[in-house]
Amino acid sequence: MNLKIALLSGDGIGPEVTQQAVKILNAVAEKYKHTFTYEKASVGAIAIDETGNPLPDETLQICANADAILFGAIGDPKYDNNPTAKVRPEQGLLKLRKSLGLFANIRPLTTYESLIHQSNLKEHVIKGTDFVIYRELTSGIYFGEKKLSANGNEASDTCKYTAEEIDRISHLAFKAALVRRKKLTLVDKANVLETSRLWRKRVTEIAKKYPTVKLEFLFVDNAAMQLILNPTQFDVILTENMFGDILSDEASVISGSIGLLASASIGEHTALFEPIHGSYPQAKGKNIANPLAAVLSAAMLLEHFDLYDEAEDIKIAIEKSIELNISTPDINTINHFSTTNVGNFLSDFILDEENTFYNKNNIDLGQSTII
Ligand code: IPM
Ligand code: MN
Repeated sequence: MNLKIALLSGDGIGPEVTQQAVKILNAVAEKYKHTFTYEKASVGAIAIDETGNPLPDETLQICANADAILFGAIGDPKYDNNPTAKVRPEQGLLKLRKSLGLFANIRPLTTYESLIHQSNLKEHVIKGTDFVIYRELTSGIYFGEKKLSANGNEASDTCKYTAEEIDRISHLAFKAALVRRKKLTLVDKANVLETSRLWRKRVTEIAKKYPTVKLEFLFVDNAAMQLILNPTQFDVILTENMFGDILSDEASVISGSIGLLASASIGEHTALFEPIHGSYPQAKGKNIANPLAAVLSAAMLLEHFDLYDEAEDIKIAIEKSIELNISTPDINTINHFSTTNVGNFLSDFILDEENTFYNKNNIDLGQSTII
């Protein structure tokens, strides 16, 4: 298969982790005789530095012409700590999502057997957790009208949803539930918010078309608690934009690190694949960031084009790396490996599993694995 991939590596650790994802995609391309070509484009703080615009027109053009987009991360502390900044890196990502109509953000969460014991949560609680969050991505409070009074003392953000916006992602979430464990939990705040009541009404109606899927409702405050108390109860979680943002960061604790969670954003045009983590500026250039979320995002990209064997190869390689502790410091605090070395291992393993030489003693000593 020929795929033209737009590479938007962005800020902070974005370029480092995206580079590993490309390395892995190239390994897959070599093994399965695909041709993947890449076109780089700038976004975020780096794009503001270069052009004054967090999403230059040229970037949008490159994305629109690509088959898929691989996104790194965006954000920079110099904007986070400046509430009066008029232009922000995040606007680049939000505009990109909106312009491409990427209304559904899919965030799967699984646990890795070899990481469970070192989780902050109890092993018996998280064991077997496997759910996916369907987060609405182009509406709600993120995109409603924003106001700041002239004297700067009053501000508001409007949360707005239309039935159509709710329906289109709900159908995707129900379809996902059909091929999973057939349970869908709508997370909202229907005891307080009008938008949430609209979500309940529409989702209840849509559920009639999917009679084999069990529908449950959960208020977001309770959902935040249930995720930690009893995460195995979830199969598909459907929720609005901001609740999904918050809950997916919380859920990453179950996996062991936010550096492990990938996402796919799909909708009307070209799909986008990105880690759920941010730009982690403290780690920039240190070669310590976990590349697995970016690599798993690449695997989701392949699945999007029905390249399931290829995606499976990546997941097997990742599981092997975790099992062997060939991991970055977020999940391997003792003998950690660099971002690049984790990428090298995965790539070698995919290309030649049989002959990838990994020496457990060396690994435990934090030394090179592949000679
Ligand atoms: C995410 C991020 C973004 C969001 C930011 C960077 C705008 O946190 O993708 O989860 O809030 O959607
Ligand atoms: Mn987020």
